[in-house]
Amino acid sequence: RRADEVRIVEVGPRDGLQNEKTAIGLETKLELIRRLSQTGVRNIEAGSFVAPKWVPQMANSSEIVNSLLRHPPPAPAAMAYNFLVPNLKGMQNFIKAAEASNPADDTAPITSAEDPNTPPTPPPSPPPGKGETGEQAPITSTEDPNEMPSSTSGINDPAPPGNSSAASNWMEVSLFTAATEAFSRANTNCSIAESLERCKPIVDLGKSLGIRVRGYVSVALGCPYEGPNVSPQKVAEIARTLLEMGVDEVSVADTTGMGTMPKTQELLKALTAAGIEPYDLAMHFHDTYGQALCNTMVCLENDIRTFDSSVGGLGGCPYSKGATGNVATEDLLHCLHSLGIQTGIDVGKMAEIGAWISGELGRPNDSRAGKAILAR
Ligand code: HMG
Ligand code: MG
Repeated sequence: RRADEVRIVEVGPRDGLQNEKTAIGLETKLELIRRLSQTGVRNIEAGSFVAPKWVPQMANSSEIVNSLLRHPPPAPAAMAYNFLVPNLKGMQNFIKAAEASNPADDTAPITSAEDPNTPPTPPPSPPPGKGETGEQAPITSTEDPNEMPSSTSGINDPAPPGNSSAASNWMEVSLFTAATEAFSRANTNCSIAESLERCKPIVDLGKSLGIRVRGYVSVALGCPYEGPNVSPQKVAEIARTLLEMGVDEVSVADTTGMGTMPKTQELLKALTAAGIEPYDLAMHFHDTYGQALCNTMVCLENDIRTFDSSVGGLGGCPYSKGATGNVATEDLLHCLHSLGIQTGIDVGKMAEIGAWISGELGRPNDSRAGKAILAR
C-alpha cells in the first residue's frame, strides 16, 4: 500500500440509512449496495446487527447478508462487506445469517466460474500494518518512503470461492464503543468499561472464524451530552485497548462533527503518544460543521490513509441529535483526486448514486461535489 493511495470505507448503507425516518425497503438497500459495488469502492458497510427495537431501519440486515452471500453483485474489484455488531448477540446473529446463507444449501449453486454471481475474491485490502505477533513496524522502516508496510496477518487471506464457512472472508464486522460515559450509555445502554468487556468475545469469535474486526470509538471529537471537550488521551486509551484486544483497525469517529483542525491535530498527537500507528487507524468524520475535509487534510499529513464516508452525505446517529451525515464520499473523492491521491473509485458513478439514493429517500443530495459533477 502506497502513501499516495487512500482506502475509502463506504458507510452509506449502514450509517447513511440507520437514521432515516422513512422506512427503507430491502430492495432499495440491496440496489444501493449493488450500485456502490460497481464504483471501484472495495469496502462497504452494509448493515447492522443491533437491537431492532432501538434501530428499526437496520432490522433486515440478515437478509442483506443472505443476499450478498448467495448472490453477490459482480463487482469489478474484490470487495469486503462490513456489518456492525454491538454485542455477542449481534455477532451471533450475524454468523447465524451467514450460516443460513451457505451456498452449499442452495438448490441453485452460485459458485461456478462462469456464473456472474460467483462470490468475489476476498479483499486484498486489509490495512497495512501489524504482523501476527502484534508488533508494529513504523512506516519509516520500509525502503521506499512512499511505500507503506504490507500486512502479514493473513486475516484476509483468500478463502476458496464458494467457501462454505459461516462468514466468508469477504465479510467483516465492526464493534463500537465510545469516549464518553454519557454517549456509551445512550448508544449501548452500558458504561465504557462494560462496552469494552462486550467487545472482547466479539473479537475472539471473529478471530476464531477468520473474520476481520474493526472497532469504532465514537464521540472522539465532541459529545452530544458532555460537550465539545472530549479527552484525546481517553480516546487514545480506548483505541489502544481495542488494538490490544486484537481488532484489526480502529475507526476514530467524530460523531457530532464538532472536530476542528487543531482538535484533530491534538487527537492524533495523543494517539501517536499512545503508540498507535497511522495504519492502525481509520477516521470517520461526520460533517455537521463542514469541517470534515479540513480534518481529513490534517489526518493525511499525519499519514492516515483510511477514511469512512457516505455517498450523498447520508447518515447520522440516532443518539447524536442534530449531527448530520458523514462526509460525502463524492466530496472526499474530489478532494483526494485533486491531490493526486488514488482511491480506485469512479467519482462520476458515485455522484450518480448520491443523486439516486437522495431521490429515493426524498431528501436533498448533501454532496456539493456530487451535484456539481452532475451539473457539468
Ligand atoms: P439493551 O436493551 O441494553 O440490551 O440494548 P439487553 O441485553 O438488555 O437486551 C434487551 C433486548 O434486546 C432483549 O430482547 C435482547 O434479546 C435484545 P427481549 O428479551 O427484550 O425480547 N437484544 C438484541 N436484539 C437484536 N440484536 C442484538 C441484541 N442485543 C440485545 N444485538 C444494545 C443493548 C447494545 C443491544 C442496544 O442498546 C443497541 O442495539 N444499541 C445500538 C444502537 C445503535 O445502533 N446505534 C447506532 C450505531 S453506532 C453509530 O452510529 C456510531 C458510528 O457510526 C461511529 C460514529 O459516528 O460515532 C459507528
Ligand atoms: Mg457514524
